[in-house]
Amino acid sequence: MAETKSLAVVGGGQMGSGIAQLGAMHGLHVWLLDTDPAALSRATKSISSSLQRFVSKGQLSQAAGNEALKRLKCTSNIEDLRSADIVVEAIVESEDVKKKLFIELDKITKSSAILASNTSSISITRLASATGRPRQVIGMHFMNPPPVMKLVEIIRGADTSDETYHVTKALAERFRKTVICSQDYSGFIVNRILMPMINEAFFTLYTGVATKEDIDTGMKLGTNHPMGPLELADFIGLDVCLSIMKVLHTGLGDSKYAPCPLLVQYVDASRVGRKCGIGVYDYRKPSPRL
Ligand code: NAI
Repeated sequence: MAETKSLAVVGGGQMGSGIAQLGAMHGLHVWLLDTDPAALSRATKSISSSLQRFVSKGQLSQAAGNEALKRLKCTSNIEDLRSADIVVEAIVESEDVKKKLFIELDKITKSSAILASNTSSISITRLASATGRPRQVIGMHFMNPPPVMKLVEIIRGADTSDETYHVTKALAERFRKTVICSQDYSGFIVNRILMPMINEAFFTLYTGVATKEDIDTGMKLGTNHPMGPLELADFIGLDVCLSIMKVLHTGLGDSKYAPCPLLVQYVDASRVGRKCGIGVYDYRKPSPRL
């Protein structure tokens, strides 16, 4: 089985920057690509401060943190990804946009490269069928934030080879993650269960059953969840939550997955959560709660 030496990550948002950081922390040469230069400069800042947090907690030496930063390069030129052994895509959760990228990656990367997607819910089989190498396409779904959360969900498309699965699993284990494996059906394992709960929390708010604070407190203290569902939705991004609910709704064909109108309305109003300063809660004020 070929050892992964170089990693490319496409999309330098909250997930892509964390995945790139993991690669650099675990000795890989990493290219981080984003079409938006501002996203790359935000990613570099957030990676440096996250590495510094690992150093101050004694989980990484200062020298190892500095070395990790040196192994990371940012680019907006896709040609730089030519020599990557594995590309992990973490761009916007849209099948059309992801497919276009996979077609491009298929053209420019070396023929042995694995093309992985961090998609939360989109069909790996359909992304794979946009390329000429479906055996080397796989889902590698990190949890947010990738440097901290211990799970990677690996999704095998209809044609994903055993070799591709084993190389991807070995990479996740090198990052010290626990791996679970899902077949390629909408939402996979984690979001198939999590997103309907978040959507139900929006319905609970929308129909006036309770305040946002009581919904979150209820789930935190009542079910031992570290974050309430509405806080968690703000953390994930309401746009990402809505995209996943749409995939569950169309992919599984059951009206129980219809996105809550309130979730739709927040996204229409560009209230997409922490990343923009406002979602269910307002993070622009001194107190995080409205
Ligand atoms: P984000 O909105 O923070 O970042 C997306 C980045 O991709 C942006 O910086 C954007 O400029 C860039 N981008 C968009 N189109 C591009 C293209 N064609 N080429 C290069 N860069 C491009 O999104 P986030 O939250 O990081 O999500 C990314 C992916 O990870 C999505 O598929 C999402 O479903 C998945 N995911 C998200 C989680 C979350 O908690 N937010 C958890 C697990 C997976």
